[in-house]
Amino acid sequence: MSKKFLFIGFVILIAGIVIALFWNKKAAKENITFTEHIAPIIYKNCVSCHAENGAAPFPLLTYKQVSKKAKTIAKVTKLRYMPPWPADPGYSHFVNEKYLTDEEIETLQIWVKNGKPEGPDIPLPKYEKPNYISAIGKPDLTLFLDSVQLFPDLRDRFFLIKIPGKIAQDTFVRAVEFIAGEPDLVHHFNGHLLLFAPDAKKNLWEGDLKTEISAGEYEKDFEKLKLLNDDGTKPFRIHSAVNYLPGVFGTSYPDGIGTFRISSNFIFVGNDLHYGPSDRKVWDKSRINLFFTSKAPERATSEIMLGTNGVSKIEPPLKIPAGKISKHITRFKVENDISVLTVNPHLHMLGKSFLAYAIKPNGDTIPLIRIPEWDFRWQYFYTFQHMVPIPRGSEIIAEAVFDNTTSNPNNPNKPPKEVGERLEFGGASMRATDEMFQFIITYTDYRRGDDSVSLQR
Ligand code: HEC
Repeated sequence: MSKKFLFIGFVILIAGIVIALFWNKKAAKENITFTEHIAPIIYKNCVSCHAENGAAPFPLLTYKQVSKKAKTIAKVTKLRYMPPWPADPGYSHFVNEKYLTDEEIETLQIWVKNGKPEGPDIPLPKYEKPNYISAIGKPDLTLFLDSVQLFPDLRDRFFLIKIPGKIAQDTFVRAVEFIAGEPDLVHHFNGHLLLFAPDAKKNLWEGDLKTEISAGEYEKDFEKLKLLNDDGTKPFRIHSAVNYLPGVFGTSYPDGIGTFRISSNFIFVGNDLHYGPSDRKVWDKSRINLFFTSKAPERATSEIMLGTNGVSKIEPPLKIPAGKISKHITRFKVENDISVLTVNPHLHMLGKSFLAYAIKPNGDTIPLIRIPEWDFRWQYFYTFQHMVPIPRGSEIIAEAVFDNTTSNPNNPNKPPKEVGERLEFGGASMRATDEMFQFIITYTDYRRGDDSVSLQR
């Protein structure tokens, strides 16, 4: 008898707890306010681009600004269109990664549904204004790009551009930084660095400083820039010495890692300098900042480039039939113990998804990066939060899926055409007729304890 009562009592107690928790949670949901809950999410994930004069088209700094855009914010966060972060955070983690948890997305939805309450008058999170002169410090040398005039024609434009430089003597570079003149219009800059031996090229400025990429004329466009040595041979090239995407300010590693030697005569080649659709008539004046050091690097970095133009074959070869979805793989065996710092997957408009990992000699898998839905507009150089050691004898494997059907809204060919890759000195550009499949790895020689070396600056 008493056992039965005890049991009933127990059931009532549990039900009470469940109801209390439920009410509590409901109350918490009803009490979501801008100052207490929404501002911390926005300041952490959005204001690096959504600031005054930022890379995004409007700022999201105040209650008024966020409240005005609230409905669209709810929509684009739910779709995971914003913040733009194509890499899967469930697979690997990177410096400055920006993504919202399911709970944060729900918080935003409920706040909008509840009528966007502002909440108590408490200070907003701390916010450092982006520095449009330099995010690193005082540059030792600033090179201006030849200005580009943009028009209110609402179309994407792609340029090849060269930025010659001369310094008194060879030295080391500890960081390179691209600063967009018009941050909401410059969408992407990828710059290789050409280093010339003394007297190999008399006039770095000969030829055109820039040319707009015209479909199918890439070789001719490139030729106009006159980038070869005077005797027709190729200068030494450092691939992707500087990269820019909205909200990203140069890759730079902790002190002592990743400096390189620069010769006294050099040329940065931007392929591409990509502008998003412009709504105004304006001259863009972008810049490259260089930071020198007299010290040789304690830990030099190198690159491995898999795939197009790189060290490993693509299988099957990159010919993507019209109307088809096709998967291609490239593999590379690592000969030394290395520690990976940064990875950059690169495809063009037909890209659908991307996956890269390493298989150790003992069969274990080291996850590198997974991009479930390729977005050609957001091709970050992803720096790991900690160095990722890969032992010698491992195989690095990258898999890319391409969608050359009409259901790919970015397919440049309507109707779809067979698309292949083209190999060339400058690196293929975003031409409608060409695809690329590259996986670029920046690494340094392995040292014990590297897996706990933080790459957060
Ligand atoms: C890396 C830069 C960057 C970050 C970070 C970023 N945005 Fe954006 N956002 C942009 C750019 C660029 C555009 C305009 C082009 C586009 O729509 O892709 C944009 C557009 C938008 C739009 C308009 C979309 C439309 O369809 O009109 C909204 C709303 C938005 N962002 C909200 C957010 C929110 C909320 C966050 C943070 C949770 C965020 N963004 C983070 C760069 C960024």
